Amino acid sequence: PRAQSEAAPLTGRTVVVTAGGTREALDPVRYLGNRSSGKQGVAVAEAALAAGATVTFIGGAMSVEPPAGADVVRVESTQELHEAVLRHAAGADALVMAAAVADFRPAEYAEAKIKKAQDGTNPVIRLERTPDILADTVAARTAGEPMPGVIVGFGAETGDATTSVLEFGAAKLARKGCEMLVVNQVGRDKVFGQDTTEVTMLFADGREPVAAAGDKADVGVAIVTELAGLLDRPAR
Ligand code: CTP
Ligand code: CA
Repeated sequence: PRAQSEAAPLTGRTVVVTAGGTREALDPVRYLGNRSSGKQGVAVAEAALAAGATVTFIGGAMSVEPPAGADVVRVESTQELHEAVLRHAAGADALVMAAAVADFRPAEYAEAKIKKAQDGTNPVIRLERTPDILADTVAARTAGEPMPGVIVGFGAETGDATTSVLEFGAAKLARKGCEMLVVNQVGRDKVFGQDTTEVTMLFADGREPVAAAGDKADVGVAIVTELAGLLDRPAR
């Protein structure tokens, strides 16, 4: 059942948006985190709300407020985000993974605050891999679970001497198995915490890449426009 219009192309749709950074606890007072502001995810959620969607916003650590009008779920660790995404994405039409998810977490959690050793030796933090939430959501869908038909990933990339940002992006899109990847170039003072950004959206179905630049709010609208287009595509 769909009631759609130009102004509200996501009417009747449910969209889950993740945003912000995860924090991985070392001990009761310390964590490993990242510089994600949450701004781009909030902008996508606001654009989806403006397009008529029902939005669940799953937010980690952020420097901005979650979007008004969304159902807001707050998480801290990758583990909590993983559980929240699998729970809330079930039955939703689209999932947008704008969260900056830790790739590694401390392999051991110290129940008591880590103290300085009297003998002057320094502690070594051993890390382990976190689950890949995006890839797990795609895998759950492949296994027949009711996961969204449109799954959007983000890819922060820096090119290197032999491979461009977009080549890395195309490889990441294929690796993740999602429908769309929003690629941005990171490094130096680019992107993190800024109000403006420049992205290229890549698609698994072979459609041409779409570039968007400007305020994160404008880029959020551009992402939601492509998302709505993917939801409307005829079944392959
Ligand atoms: N992501 C995720 N779970 C992780 C790591 C990343 O769901 N454990 C999601 C991010 O939210 C993003 C996408 O995967 O939508 C790509 O994240 P990115 O860090 O660019 O890719 P990685 O696969 O972690 O690869 P790398 O950091 O090595 O480039
Ligand atoms: Ca990563």
